[in-house]
Amino acid sequence: MRLFLAAIFISLAVGFVNACSPADKAALLAFKAALNEPYLKIFDSWKPSSTKCCSDFYGVSCDPTTGRVADIILRGESEDPIFEKAGRSGYMTGSLSPALCKLDRLSTLIVADWKAISGEIPACIPSSLPKLRILDLAGNQISGKIPADIGSLGRLTVLNLADNRISGCIPASIVNLGSLMHLDLNNNQLTGAIPSDIGKLTMMSRALLSKNQLTGSIPVSFSNIYRLADLDLSMNKLSGLIPGQFGSMRVLSTLNLDSNQFYGNIPSSLLSSSGLNVLNTSRNNLEGELPDVFGPETYFSVLDLSYNKFKGPIPKSLSSVRYIGHLDLSYNHLCGTIPIGEPFEHLGASSFANNDCLCGSPLRTC
Ligand SMILES: *[C@@H]1O[C@H](CO)[C@@H](O)[C@H](O)[C@H]1NC(C)=O
Repeated sequence: MRLFLAAIFISLAVGFVNACSPADKAALLAFKAALNEPYLKIFDSWKPSSTKCCSDFYGVSCDPTTGRVADIILRGESEDPIFEKAGRSGYMTGSLSPALCKLDRLSTLIVADWKAISGEIPACIPSSLPKLRILDLAGNQISGKIPADIGSLGRLTVLNLADNRISGCIPASIVNLGSLMHLDLNNNQLTGAIPSDIGKLTMMSRALLSKNQLTGSIPVSFSNIYRLADLDLSMNKLSGLIPGQFGSMRVLSTLNLDSNQFYGNIPSSLLSSSGLNVLNTSRNNLEGELPDVFGPETYFSVLDLSYNKFKGPIPKSLSSVRYIGHLDLSYNHLCGTIPIGEPFEHLGASSFANNDCLCGSPLRTC
């Protein structure tokens, strides 16, 4: 009897998986209707006559227990054989229909790298999709603002809106995304300041805000995010001082601050940090002498301090570092003898070019 009930349950569950909630199917078909994908024809599998949207619709999958649509994963660049067959990457025009908001059990929404999807992020998403964990709309031409109530997506772990045309500010509510691990807003048209309490995002390990028009200073609260490994604020209009606290962040390994308007000294904690492996502060207005704080623990694959206003000598301790892969001190006002040492041997003259009066190998002899 028990076996019999189990069999019925399983067949019901399988039935759910294959069948489609009529409301979900209608929402998916409305989503499809607002898009045009001419080359791969992925939407050919989204047939209005099909009763099995969970199994038949390309890129759609459902929760096996509820039979409701849980994931839409449509990537314009992937290893999927259909791309190989078509011999090209994806291309799609149209926009994201607000009908998506009727899929109220949606956990993953990935509609990325289709190059030409335009229109705005449906404003209903934050209030309608409480189960959303991944929102990835990168690599399109989406414009308009990030919905102001984005912070109500309490389960969101990935927010990737990179490589679009999104404008306006980073909404203040973003700091309420308590589960957020990856934030990627690179290469948009965002303006205004980074919320000063961004440090409330304590789960975050990557924060990528490069290539926008952000202004104001760096929130010191970033340094409270002890999981933060990768912080990219490059190519904005940020100014002010670089917080010294960044040098004591436990797992921070990449810090890109290049092409902004930062001024003041470079915090010695950044150069003495043993965890930081990539530091780029190129093209800012940093000044003063470089602190003589390098040590045998220092390991930089990239240390780019070029195009600033540093003066004085190159710190002697730099010759004692464990490793420096790419060093760039060019276009400053440094002066004096270039230290000699093993970490320097592979570096060419361009690492030291265009300073005031540096000398010694690989430049002219002193
Ligand atoms: C550092 O940033 C500058 C300016 O944005 C960029 O041109 C350079 O390639 C970066 N350095 C490295 C090693 O990536």
